[in-house]
Amino acid sequence: ASPPLPQNEPIHAYAPGTPERAALKAELARLSSTTVEIPMFIGGEEVRTGDLQEVRAPHRHDLLLARAHQGNTEHVKRAIEAARRAHKGWASLPWTARAAVFLKAADMLSTRLRPTMNAATMLGQSKTAYQAEIDAACELIDFLRFNVHYARQIAAEQPGSSRGSWNMQEPRPLEGFVFASTPFNFTAIAGNLPTAPALMGNTVVWKPSANALLSAHFVMNLLREAGLPDGVINLVMGPPEEVANACLAHQDLAGLHFTGSTEVFQALWRRIGDNIGNYRTYPRVVGETGGKDFVFAHKSADLEGLAVALVRGAYEYQGQKCSAASRAYVPRSLWPALKDRLVGLMEGLRMGDVADFRSFLGAVIDERAHKRLAGRIGAAKGDPSCTLIAGGGTPADVGWFVEPTLIEVRDPKHALMRDELFGPVLALWVYPDGEEEAALKQCDEGSPYGLTGAIFARDRMFIEQAASTLRFAAGNLYINDKPTGAVVGQQPFGGGRASGTNDKAGSSLNLLRWVSPRVVKETF
Ligand code: SER
Repeated sequence: ASPPLPQNEPIHAYAPGTPERAALKAELARLSSTTVEIPMFIGGEEVRTGDLQEVRAPHRHDLLLARAHQGNTEHVKRAIEAARRAHKGWASLPWTARAAVFLKAADMLSTRLRPTMNAATMLGQSKTAYQAEIDAACELIDFLRFNVHYARQIAAEQPGSSRGSWNMQEPRPLEGFVFASTPFNFTAIAGNLPTAPALMGNTVVWKPSANALLSAHFVMNLLREAGLPDGVINLVMGPPEEVANACLAHQDLAGLHFTGSTEVFQALWRRIGDNIGNYRTYPRVVGETGGKDFVFAHKSADLEGLAVALVRGAYEYQGQKCSAASRAYVPRSLWPALKDRLVGLMEGLRMGDVADFRSFLGAVIDERAHKRLAGRIGAAKGDPSCTLIAGGGTPADVGWFVEPTLIEVRDPKHALMRDELFGPVLALWVYPDGEEEAALKQCDEGSPYGLTGAIFARDRMFIEQAASTLRFAAGNLYINDKPTGAVVGQQPFGGGRASGTNDKAGSSLNLLRWVSPRVVKETF
């Protein structure tokens, strides 16, 4: 029997007057008044190039948080060499010795380093204290601990033997290095993508998003302090295409662990395809990409639950979760009351500096995202087939702010119902009562993605019908809940179609992608 599952890390509430709030505020003040210098980390050494990229808070143009040393192809080559050198020793350790490093990191983050990681994520990625806490503290700690639990299960899985012989399965790591390319929107994912392959004995070249360098720096420091041997995870920064090309061109590329846009993932996969004859082994390609996540309401839905789920699902973290609700299907009979409730809730959402604990939303990640969103909202305002129900403002004088925005579309095939916008914009289509089946079909076929979705209904027959029609429309389907906030160990996360390879982060399915087992039969 396996030992029990580890427990999910409890969420701190940061209520006024609590010691945890005081500690977080102190870290916010400290990181706001210093400029951190971020080196690369290659083969156990900090590497400084003097080619510096400024890191600013998305919600405050005036707040310079850090300067990060940018590398180039030569640095990536050094990182690959360091990973290759470290491979033999790290891969031959008992899995428990590797696990100890990550368990120690989880403990350090759970206690002493929690305020630093949260403050870095709040300031660098414009997350509120709650959004940082569930990501940079709880989810990252959970990934580290639950992955160890799944690694133990994988190590224990053995084939049968018949008399006169003994069969043994050895969960070898891949032969080569893994390239981890991580997104800005979750510090936990940025931590999970390099550490999951490393736990299974692989060595890694890690390129964090240029929009999350402060938290990436602290994740790297956490792993170093927890005792990660030199060269096991090497952090490189630089022009994304240059870094990726240098990794993917190398004959020892053994895997790609990616979270980011569909477009970039496809470009990387194509490059791997171009090089396929040159690798020593077929690289594992594991990616989680875009989403156009739906909320489908039936006339039997609980209105209050639906309204809260739409607001939280669409606007928490400014809609920049790949799981964010971004298209809704609502029956006409519910719409007038729902509209009033949504507008009422949205009027109460406070947008502003995330270091002010009263804010519900911060800013979107950068100028590019702001331009894209302002452009789409502007186009919708001038589009006679759209009605702006709430929001629509994009004030950029202090930071890259975009108001939570709700747009009703008259055509379910409108681009706002199909394209991933990655911001606080929810498109909504009101369907005629009695035409649920056609509306479900629209929902299934309306976007190329398949990540998350939610069904709101009390009617059991309808729930079953919807879950069946939408079988491949979401890898994580929620019934009467928002489509965001998957918990490690409870809702293994990922989806198919254009959303990724669905290798469920935070589960043994993901870890199995980072092993290449050897089976040995010995005859007596
Ligand atoms: N796992 C996150 C969520 O469920 C998204 O990456 O919201």
